[in-house]
Amino acid sequence: MINPHRALFPCLDQMIKGNPLVYLDNAATTLKPQVVIDQITHHYSKMTANVHRGVHTLSTEATAQYEATRTLVKEFINASSEKEIIFTKGTTESINLVAQSLTSGKFLSPGDEILVSRMEHHSNIVPWQLILERSGAKLIEIPITQNGDIDQEAFLQLLGPKTKMMAVTHVSNSLGTVNPIKKMIAAAKSHGALTLIDAAQSIAHTPIDVQDLNVDFFCFSGHKMYGPTGIGILYGKEELLDKMPPYQGGGAMIKTVSFEKTTFNDLPEKFEAGTPHISGAICLKSAIEFIQNIGFEEIARIENNLTNMALAELRQIKKLRLIGNPEKRACVISFFIDGAHPHDVGTLLDQQGVAIRTGHHCTAPLMDFYGIPATCRASFAIYNDESDVEKFLVALHKSLELL
Ligand code: ALA
Repeated sequence: MINPHRALFPCLDQMIKGNPLVYLDNAATTLKPQVVIDQITHHYSKMTANVHRGVHTLSTEATAQYEATRTLVKEFINASSEKEIIFTKGTTESINLVAQSLTSGKFLSPGDEILVSRMEHHSNIVPWQLILERSGAKLIEIPITQNGDIDQEAFLQLLGPKTKMMAVTHVSNSLGTVNPIKKMIAAAKSHGALTLIDAAQSIAHTPIDVQDLNVDFFCFSGHKMYGPTGIGILYGKEELLDKMPPYQGGGAMIKTVSFEKTTFNDLPEKFEAGTPHISGAICLKSAIEFIQNIGFEEIARIENNLTNMALAELRQIKKLRLIGNPEKRACVISFFIDGAHPHDVGTLLDQQGVAIRTGHHCTAPLMDFYGIPATCRASFAIYNDESDVEKFLVALHKSLELL
């Protein structure tokens, strides 16, 4: 069956090395629908102006549109106020902001423990490592099972009076594991810990309600949800963000400046120093509306079907080892072919027009856990269809013959 959403993505309409493009690298970044591309063009053609800085027509219109995205993000994740929505460069900057600001604000004391799981992306490990010396806090690993699930028993054992932060991913970018974050947040909070969720891999695939999750910080990127690169969101509970010091200094984040004393702006501007990624923020609105128009039911129907179809076929390939067999999986599949480096597999697939990702996926500790240098990863999005899976499998079988 032809996927009706396909035609909305012009990037798909091209040949790669003489073959029609099969794009299965959606966990790295999604393609952009025409409606987002048109909005970017319109912004730079007709709407270019800075925000929060002028009284002229273009500037006030740009400010209104920028703030309209904030309101839509608030509704999209059910935050309780626009003050809780901070524009950042992406998930990575959102996590760095939290780690740095909590440290400057002395939220962390020597001996406090920050819990992160073995399956975290480097962006949810390194920002915490950067503040260990300054804060005196310790980074503690939450182990995972061989299947690629967080070891829930071990996690509960690690929680205690020293736990100050639990920072985990909603969906593993390498394994596709969907973690039971609501349960984990509740457990961490019962010990008085703060909680942060990396939602980079879940935001385009499943509805989110931050109030229902009762999470303190929730981070995601625009470019993994059909929007522009360089724009992301940090959601934080207002009472926490209010107490946290600024992360960067500059224009927009201040109320008054003198050489004697500077006072800071209210939320959310306190955390948005300098000219932001205006077009990125404005066009993120089109991307969210695009997702809302399709609806998460339809998204899940398409992506689950393709994931199950691919998994069933990949399981039949003798030399192929699936990496991770989680209890609940999103539309991400990692595999390893015995005797072949993933980069060679990826290169052979590329020659047949199939784009997958190969590498450690910025999860080196996870690769160490499985004792492999890298994996091949196929990941799906709203525009993929069964013919993509079929072409991928044909190309994979052909590659195996050549290896
Ligand atoms: N974090 C992105 C990925 O998993 C780049 O590919």
